[in-house]
Amino acid sequence: MEITATGTALAAEITGVDLATTLDTATVEAIKTAWDDHLVLLFRGQRLNDPDLLTFSRHFGELDPPGPNPYGTTFLPEFPEINVISNVKDAQSRPIGNLGAGEAVWHADMTYIETPPKGAILHALEVPVGQGDTHFANMVRAYEDLPAELKRAVEGRKAIHDAAHNSAGMLRKGYEEIDDPRKTPGAHHPLVREDPENGRRALFLGRRPHAYVIGMEPDESDDLLDRLWAHATQERYAWAHKWQPGDLLMWQNLWILHRRDGFDDNARRILHRTQIKGDAAIVG
Ligand code: SIN
Repeated sequence: MEITATGTALAAEITGVDLATTLDTATVEAIKTAWDDHLVLLFRGQRLNDPDLLTFSRHFGELDPPGPNPYGTTFLPEFPEINVISNVKDAQSRPIGNLGAGEAVWHADMTYIETPPKGAILHALEVPVGQGDTHFANMVRAYEDLPAELKRAVEGRKAIHDAAHNSAGMLRKGYEEIDDPRKTPGAHHPLVREDPENGRRALFLGRRPHAYVIGMEPDESDDLLDRLWAHATQERYAWAHKWQPGDLLMWQNLWILHRRDGFDDNARRILHRTQIKGDAAIVG
């Protein structure tokens, strides 16, 4: 197995391993270490069916089922822990997956719950080559570089993480639109997250739309959030993944942000996805 860093702010590619086979302990431990070091890992040329994807994912912890989607369905009833990310519709014109073909804005997954998932694993079954790139940004680096004035402004502050919309801006089943960000439904988390074991800190922003910094006037909150987001999503903290069928990406959800470019809705894009349950509430 060989691990090659992308040379940017995060991510590495691992070659020389077939993730559909039974992995020995040493291989799993090496993947875990590389995942901690690089935050995002890419494996190309993989062929995992759904049980294989579940077996591989369970090496990293208990699985977290997908959050509610706009359609109120479980896309794969036989494998409820697997989410489908797709723009494809079935013979009855029903979406077979979530997020459509539009852009998905910068976000971390399911931070609107108290204990968000610590990781996600996304396997490309069908993807249009050259479109729908997925971008990742390193929030540890972004916090380290945060100007002193912004570091002071975020210290001890919490924000609301919107539960009502997915990253494509669609309203999840069971929620309604709310104009006042102070009333946004969702978990309250510190703007800076700290790992209680090693003291590592990162910006913890979730997603920008409908966010609100608790205790501030809405204008003041918007101003602070806009400045944090402009800082955190600079190119120097980011890496873009260009998909090929068979790619498998895994990311450390609590240390990064990610987003997806839109793509041609006439193309077929189907990915299967699992996520690993978080261990504890976010502490700052
Ligand atoms: C996601 O945000 O999980 C989806 C990313 C993608 O479609 O590439």
